[in-house]
Amino acid sequence: MAEIEKKPVKIVETVLRDAHQSLLATRMTTEQMLPIIDKMDKVGYYAVECWGGATFDASLRFLKEDPWERLRKLRDGFKNTKLQMLFRGQNILGYNHYADDVVEYFVQKSIANGIDIIRIFDCLNDIRNLQTAVKAANKEKGHVQIALCYTLGDAYTLDYWKDIAKKIEDMGADSLCIKDMAGLLTPYAADELVRALKASTNLPIDLHTHYTSGVASMTYLKAVEAGCDIIDTAMSPLALGTSQPATEVMVETFRGTPYDCGYDQNLLAEITEYFRPIREKALETGLLNPKVLGVNIKTLQYQVPGGMLSNLVSQLKEAGAEDKYYEVLEEIPRVRKDFGEPPLVTPSSQIVGTQAVLNVLSGERYKMVTKESKKILMGEFGQTVKPFNKEVQKKVVGDEKPITCRPADLIPPQLPQFEKECAQWKQQDEDVLSYALFPKVAEEFFKYREAQQTKVDVTLAKDKSYPV
Ligand code: CO
Repeated sequence: MAEIEKKPVKIVETVLRDAHQSLLATRMTTEQMLPIIDKMDKVGYYAVECWGGATFDASLRFLKEDPWERLRKLRDGFKNTKLQMLFRGQNILGYNHYADDVVEYFVQKSIANGIDIIRIFDCLNDIRNLQTAVKAANKEKGHVQIALCYTLGDAYTLDYWKDIAKKIEDMGADSLCIKDMAGLLTPYAADELVRALKASTNLPIDLHTHYTSGVASMTYLKAVEAGCDIIDTAMSPLALGTSQPATEVMVETFRGTPYDCGYDQNLLAEITEYFRPIREKALETGLLNPKVLGVNIKTLQYQVPGGMLSNLVSQLKEAGAEDKYYEVLEEIPRVRKDFGEPPLVTPSSQIVGTQAVLNVLSGERYKMVTKESKKILMGEFGQTVKPFNKEVQKKVVGDEKPITCRPADLIPPQLPQFEKECAQWKQQDEDVLSYALFPKVAEEFFKYREAQQTKVDVTLAKDKSYPV
């Protein structure tokens, strides 16, 4: 047999970000992470994804933790492993477009606090919305990984992906990620896509998918054989279901092959043992719903990400209209088409999903519209691959003139105003960024933080051995 060139697959471990975002409503605390990072640091992971996405919002809002402090602690612990974050282009880690000065400052501070790899995406794949973040990360010498949101539809041909990949390479990306948030990429389609992308760019390719539809580990296998360089996996207690394929399983799959990454299964088993009780506790308390652990083949049928399905169920429950579930599921692709057939990922997934609910519940399509639906149709999130449905656009925006430029070109600098507004709470430079993204939530957190500090001061004052 001819000698096959060795090409160990690189693995990004997602247990500290996407896995608990997908399974545990992003509720893993820094305290739960710290005891295991010493072992995780010895595995040899290509990177550990541990920040960004929903973790920032959830830390401030639900855990009353400073996300920046978490990042610094993780950086201290991971001495040999690159840290990766997920960044929503001009939306940063929020749900709206921010001015360039906020995007630049956020990138700068993320890297200064310990991030090595920034994975940047735009929910419409409008690459103009990536420019500012990419430039800033290049300037700070971070590794820029641009992610394309994978989706299906007439417009999303192999030529579309090849063309946009080439543009991404020209923009200054160091690597390219296929971000399959809904688990739509099937094994043979992955083979074809990876080969096409490899033919059109020289960038390393990272495949990110979710187990929702049940095909993910087969998709990784075919993708790696086709030349995919990096895969995203999660330690088994927080893998599968709406999360990623399991790290240990993928490592074992490639053992003894040219793609063998050589990780120590005994070490991985110790890490697994650490996370297992976290899973069990979450199952007990209901934080982890066994429903999300199964195969949901409907995601392939309706092309809706898992997180969006659970949002939908809770929206309908609130409205006392759970019987409308299937009607809404069928309305989603129609709304998506009216809105230019965008990928469904935060925030476009929420916008399309909510509008579909309104269309069904009000009994007339677009009789009621959200502010965000109007913004999409005004071009304020950027350009979609296909044009909007003109009739729907007219009904929603009326005589207002939609924009066609890069949306952030119309947003004046915001930092000075944010600095002013949060000055009274500020304890570190980064606070202004927390405030910029989530003003109300951040303010509450700042108040909580002050109250905690006062408590500590009082305790210390009582203990004579500490000077206050
Ligand atoms: Co994901």
